Amino acid sequence: MNSPEVAPNFTHPDRNLAMELVRATEAAAIRAVPFIGRGDKNAADKAAVDAMRVFLGTVNFDGLIVIGEGEKDEAPMLFNGERVGNGKGPSCDIAVDPIDGTSLTAAGRQNALSVIAVSSRGTMLDASSVFYMDKIVTGAAGRGVVSLDAPIGDNIRELSKATGKPVGEMVLAVLDRPRHAELIDAIRSAGAGTRLMSDGDVAGGINAARWQTRIDMCVGMGGSPEGITTACALKAIGGYMQGRLAPKDDAERAGAVAAGLDVDKLLELDDMVSGDNTFFVATGVTDGGLVDGVRRQGPIIRTESIVLRSKSGTSRRVIGEHLASKWL
Ligand code: FBP
Repeated sequence: MNSPEVAPNFTHPDRNLAMELVRATEAAAIRAVPFIGRGDKNAADKAAVDAMRVFLGTVNFDGLIVIGEGEKDEAPMLFNGERVGNGKGPSCDIAVDPIDGTSLTAAGRQNALSVIAVSSRGTMLDASSVFYMDKIVTGAAGRGVVSLDAPIGDNIRELSKATGKPVGEMVLAVLDRPRHAELIDAIRSAGAGTRLMSDGDVAGGINAARWQTRIDMCVGMGGSPEGITTACALKAIGGYMQGRLAPKDDAERAGAVAAGLDVDKLLELDDMVSGDNTFFVATGVTDGGLVDGVRRQGPIIRTESIVLRSKSGTSRRVIGEHLASKWL
């Protein structure tokens, strides 16, 4: 029975899988430490992949990797279609990105994250046959207000009306790419500012959706795997997002159609991940607006993570202090 101080429609949720999964992103971030700022993004990624895989094997669930490191032959571990977990718990779809921002990590730049997103089996869109997706991400106020089909200036003005924040104070996160030159011009012409990201649009999207950050919207074309991962996080923090797959040529378009994808469809959050049972964990690899990066402090390795669950609407910040001697 609900206690009197708890809302009447509150039911105590069952197990929070994300509380276990955070060990895997922490491990990936810790193992990436020797490679931060050392110029070798593949070595950083491999260290993170290896660590994440070992920890995932200990988690009580039957995970099917829908979004992984690529196809089996190119990615020896954490490939699309691989089963992870000890097979004993709930059947889930899983998206892994041991490092979102491998180049950031190699360069020692901000905003690299280690990420896992999970949803019930059969609910996560397998968009792996199309590399890019057009995205627009906002907080909850953007629902029914912004649209990928509208000019960016209209979206800015409509979101400004919905939130009451003057256009001149709005900031839009955009990946700093030549393909976004027109978009960036249009944002500035509308009177808003940009936060140009050198990489890492998962962090950019989450920051756009979180309550009271400096980012009001995250827009532009980024990875479609990152789009699905972001969608899992938004379900837990109550954000809004639309996406549309953006095949780069006819061959990719044909491959997507063969895989059963509708590449012209405007994807709402529920098209990217359906239902209300998503988990999302991210640990900072390098410092960023979302979480601090992993760092050595004397005998301790400190990690900071966010742990999100849609069913309960819970967002936690987890600080880990790991005895460095155990990780040598
Ligand atoms: P990686 O970590 O795989 O390099 O991805 C980083 C990233 O910036 C993503 O966050 C983003 O969605 C994608 O790359 C954008 O792709 P591109 O660098 O080709 O514009």
